[in-house]
Amino acid sequence: MVGGSVHVRVPAKINLGLACGKRGDDGYHPLATLFYAVSLYDDVHAERTDDGRITLTMTGEGAEELPVDDHNLAYRAAAALKAALGPLCPWGVDLTIRKGIPIAGGMAGGSADAAGALLACSVAWDVDIDPDGLRAVAAELGSDVPFALLGGTAIGVGRGDRLTPALSRGSYHWVLALAEEGLSTPAVYRKFDELGLGAVHPEVPAELLHALAANDPVRLGKALHNDLQPAAVALRPHLQRVLNTGLELGALGAVVSGSGPTCAFLAASEATAVDLSVQLSAQGVCRTVRRVQGPMPGARLLN
Ligand code: C5P
Repeated sequence: MVGGSVHVRVPAKINLGLACGKRGDDGYHPLATLFYAVSLYDDVHAERTDDGRITLTMTGEGAEELPVDDHNLAYRAAAALKAALGPLCPWGVDLTIRKGIPIAGGMAGGSADAAGALLACSVAWDVDIDPDGLRAVAAELGSDVPFALLGGTAIGVGRGDRLTPALSRGSYHWVLALAEEGLSTPAVYRKFDELGLGAVHPEVPAELLHALAANDPVRLGKALHNDLQPAAVALRPHLQRVLNTGLELGALGAVVSGSGPTCAFLAASEATAVDLSVQLSAQGVCRTVRRVQGPMPGARLLN
């Protein structure tokens, strides 16, 4: 479509594996991670305007806490795309984002909004920018933004922004335990440094890739791994209880997603995911639970 109102849906991610090196001179940690997009979404609506201005409205659970100026990654995404286009883009945009992805949950919700804003603005402004151009703008915005555009299952290296799609057969059922309060990503990385952690050559475990290629949920459950988990648990000891509870209830595997605090549990089937979500919820160890499936496609246009 040309101009007008555009609706883009963007998935959350979990990290099935995350290997993290020591902080580099640029302040970032070298990563090797296996990103995996799941069926929990933010919806981005973009309406082209003629005045050249960018406005942002956030709706959904917890949205009132979020900034709507250039402290918001989605706003910065629209501004970065407009700057990259220069005189080719005299327009503005009214962005409205409905949050379905938990805020500060380690599921890249802010990055999803940025990816959605990039795609929605490129369509609303009817600009001819190729996917590589969009990905380059995405990588400048944040480590997880390129994956939110791509979706599926992908290995991310560097800051997590250099992506290679990974072979994943079949789809899996997951239960997510959402926490009462978010965790700050920089704080988790600082705790990681304090604990003296950091692999010399971070690599995604081969067993994880084999399990996905073989469509073997039992192997996959055992191979889930996150180097940031000890740091997240050190800041929020209760997470260990959440992880243990899910495993005791029969999950095939459990892992903190990204910098947390969301915990992801792999279920053997849809029926066991339903059981697990009901029982986990009844244990009262987390704010709420969500059942999701993966892998899902990245940011996509719905109209
Ligand atoms: O890139 P992004 O804005 O998502 O990163 C947020 C913060 O997380 C960074 O400022 C940095 O402190 C930390 N980080 C890191 N190493 C990475 C990714 C993020 O230390 N690979």
